[in-house]
Amino acid sequence: MIKICFVCLGNICRSPMAEFVLKDKVKKLNLENKFLIVSRATSYEEAGNSMHRGTKEMLNKKNIPHTEHIATRLEIDDYNKYDYFICMDESNIINTLRIFKTDPYNKIIKLNKEDVKDPWYTGNFIETYEDIDEGTDKLLENLKVK
Ligand code: 4NP
Repeated sequence: MIKICFVCLGNICRSPMAEFVLKDKVKKLNLENKFLIVSRATSYEEAGNSMHRGTKEMLNKKNIPHTEHIATRLEIDDYNKYDYFICMDESNIINTLRIFKTDPYNKIIKLNKEDVKDPWYTGNFIETYEDIDEGTDKLLENLKVK
């Protein structure tokens, strides 16, 4: 079982988009039972809220199924629950490390070399989707399941 936690600032735009995009890819590869995929925030800004409307609309446009989502902040106890904390940008990496204090197993990584731009600020959900689509494809290749 590969346990993946996507991480962004608010857990309403980028990390839940990545969660549902990867869940869809894994399902299409018939590998659903090999993966546990969740997403979390580094802040409490949006805690308890559902996904951003723009994220839901983008997923619907791409026919990617999604379930009810409740934005949740990453907590120190999460470190042992997942194999990878896949961050959307450099500030997520810094803030994730701040929450865990240390990363002895090098679990904290970034999805793409470049930061995934935050549609909360840019309003551009298409560009975010494209970055996440590319990043999750590479992730599956790197995990040698594709
Ligand atoms: P996300 O976008 O990190 O991709 O979910 C954001 C959502 C909310 C806020 C910032 C970024 N906020 O400051 O409330």
